[in-house]
Amino acid sequence: MAIIIRTLLMEMAMEMAMGRIRLHVESPETVSAVQGSNVTLPCHYRYEPALSSPRRTRVKWSWQPVNGEGQEHDVMVAIGTRHRSYGDFKGRVRLRRNAPGDASLVINPLQSDDTGRYRCEIIDGLEDESVTVQLEFRGVVFPYHSIRGRYLMNFHEAKEACEKQDSHLATFEQLYAAWEGGLDWCNAGWLMDGTAQYPVVVPRDACGGTDLAPGVRSYGVRDKSLDRFDAFCFTSSIRGEVYFLQHPVKLNFTEAAEACQNDGGRIAKVGQLYAAWKFVGLDQCDAGWLADGSVRYPIIQPRANCGTSEAGVRSFGFPPKHLKHGVYCYKVRW
Ligand SMILES: *[C@@H]1O[C@H](CO)[C@@H](O)[C@H](O)[C@H]1NC(C)=O
Ligand SMILES: *[C@@H]1O[C@H](CO)[C@@H](O)[C@H](O)[C@H]1NC(C)=O
Repeated sequence: MAIIIRTLLMEMAMEMAMGRIRLHVESPETVSAVQGSNVTLPCHYRYEPALSSPRRTRVKWSWQPVNGEGQEHDVMVAIGTRHRSYGDFKGRVRLRRNAPGDASLVINPLQSDDTGRYRCEIIDGLEDESVTVQLEFRGVVFPYHSIRGRYLMNFHEAKEACEKQDSHLATFEQLYAAWEGGLDWCNAGWLMDGTAQYPVVVPRDACGGTDLAPGVRSYGVRDKSLDRFDAFCFTSSIRGEVYFLQHPVKLNFTEAAEACQNDGGRIAKVGQLYAAWKFVGLDQCDAGWLADGSVRYPIIQPRANCGTSEAGVRSFGFPPKHLKHGVYCYKVRW
């Protein structure tokens, strides 16, 4: 038996050495997903020409976070039906194995920090081939400034401000995609990579001048502690519901937060309102309090007395908290 296996291995080694059999591994470049759901990262491998006898392959998935400093983390390793997952992925990942050569990774449920570059590596003792696939969340970018005013947040404060609104600092790719989708904003905001940038669709004097072409304009990498800007936050689609609370009278900020709790929810965060506007089509011509003390409303179909002529989330900034408005609440639904 041992001798037969050795002979087979040697034959395989010779075939490989002579370049006759090749291992191919394939995957799409990018997969986009909805946070809180599940996702399959496709990865298929095959031999050319096809093998006469199956080989024992090891599948290894590893992951490099979007904002990572280059380090890859193990996600899972599988040999035959045995598999092992690591770190934060423990118990959330499995191989799909729908067909021979299917090494696709299923992540369920997806967590908000799962985005990044995944590597699917096939190792069979003779060959070792890998491909990478980028996992992104479908999401929306929104500009955010501090309740204290404009251009007051250093990088760390901007990062925290986005996280408090159920979002993250946007990456350059996300801001660029938002610009392609029509985002035009004249105040520079921090991005995840430590740069400050702003997207301009229609060049104008009040916004860096008309000499420059439309595009995402950059102040470059800035000092994370000393320099101060606004933020561009990214929020992905959410499970749960954002709604304008039907209430007989208008409310000050304290009453608004209480009214949402009495309704079995919570006062909504800015990121949640943007996600509901973008992905659920929330359209409501009523200004309402949000958790950060701002007052906003989401418009899909622009109409008279509902702000400007374009769809978007309108903001009244941060009014004094004793003033009376409506309120947007958020409820998780599973
Ligand atoms: C995974 O997501 C799909 C839709 O993308 C859904 O149909 C399926 O039920 C989900 N599976 C689990 C186990 O949540
Ligand atoms: C809102 O009104 C309540 C009384 O209904 C009052 O106790 C509370 O202090 C007010 N909050 C603010 C921020 O003005």
